[in-house]
Amino acid sequence: MTNELSTNFTGLVFVNPFVLASAPPTESKRKILRAFESGWGGVVTKTIGLHPVENVAGPKTIYQRSSEAKPYVSRTKRADTVSHSSWNWELISDQPLDQWLPDLEEIKKTYPDRMLIASIMAGAGSDEEMDNWRKLATACVGVGCDALELNLSCPHMDRKDMGANVANDQDIIKSILKAVTEVVSVPIWVKLTPSTSTLVEAAAVAYASGAASISLCNTFPSIPLMDPETLKFEVEVDGLVTSGGQGGLAILNQALQRVSDISRAFPDRSISGIGGIKGFHEAFNFIVHGAGNLQVCTAAMEEKGSGGVGVKLIQELKDDLSDYLRRKGYSSIEEFRGIARNRVVEHSQIRRKSEDYNGGYVKSA
Ligand SMILES: Cc1cc2nc3c(=O)[nH]c(=O)nc-3n(C[C@H](O)[C@H](O)[C@H](O)COP(=O)(O)O)c2cc1C
Repeated sequence: MTNELSTNFTGLVFVNPFVLASAPPTESKRKILRAFESGWGGVVTKTIGLHPVENVAGPKTIYQRSSEAKPYVSRTKRADTVSHSSWNWELISDQPLDQWLPDLEEIKKTYPDRMLIASIMAGAGSDEEMDNWRKLATACVGVGCDALELNLSCPHMDRKDMGANVANDQDIIKSILKAVTEVVSVPIWVKLTPSTSTLVEAAAVAYASGAASISLCNTFPSIPLMDPETLKFEVEVDGLVTSGGQGGLAILNQALQRVSDISRAFPDRSISGIGGIKGFHEAFNFIVHGAGNLQVCTAAMEEKGSGGVGVKLIQELKDDLSDYLRRKGYSSIEEFRGIARNRVVEHSQIRRKSEDYNGGYVKSA
């Protein structure tokens, strides 16, 4: 029997297009094994690096909710609320590479038909950091990882040569891809930050330098809310906050816009869609804008009783996609992937009530 959920993405066969994104759901061997047991088609590991990592002395992630009766956004527990977003200032994995490698090997051996993508991150601007990228890439591929995702998008790095801080620098993107593609031949996904006005240019350089796919979006840089009564931020350490990252439903429309921009600029290239997916509706929207697979984080973390890996969620995603394909008579997501592309146009191309409008410019006589 053919599996209509199966997708070929960047040359890799996924049993279904749903992948757990790089984050707490993929931070350990135990969680990844549970995720595969539950049916996820792939996982991107929590980002692995070689530099010292120490998280803040307080909560690393909060979940913000809103309600119809009092629709302010807050982590405070209230009746009848729905999820609005996650907010986090968690750094990359603090598990050392040497500990990750045997874990990755065992995971791949246990689930050979699932795609194991290692997210990696090092610095820039020196031979030593380029060697770090090479070392991470070679080691992860050496133990069986099917692809790599380069983290050029973490929004809360102190180091100026890492994460979102380098995603605007085309020379750095080029040099990192050169270092990595020199030493491994698996598909390289590049996770870019949504927080830039030069996203299309960054994607162009990444694709031209050997990226098989762009992953979009990482969390959006953001500040937690302050409670008007207590004057405390909803998450703080010693009264202080810093910019962290927002994920979940609240970023869906913005993430779709970024994916649409890249997909329209590079319709023949691959995109992995991330940001606010919590069911088939959101996944569908990424696919129609061109995404060939879907990554999920916040919705999996929020699911109660599944150890934060979205056990019910993956079943629902698969069931709802299967049902949709059957009802519409599609044989795979490829039949409707990208159908929204041509319907996203310049503002001036949208019909006006009068024909006199000239894109905001005075019409010459
Ligand atoms: C607590 C937390 C930790 C994260 N850590 C990483 C990370 O290590 N590397 C990475 O590339 N993205 C990381 N992300 C970003 C997610 O992979 C994802 O891009 C983002 O949350 C948007 O997806 P969502 O709306 O489904 O949450 C993290 C997100 C959260 C909430």
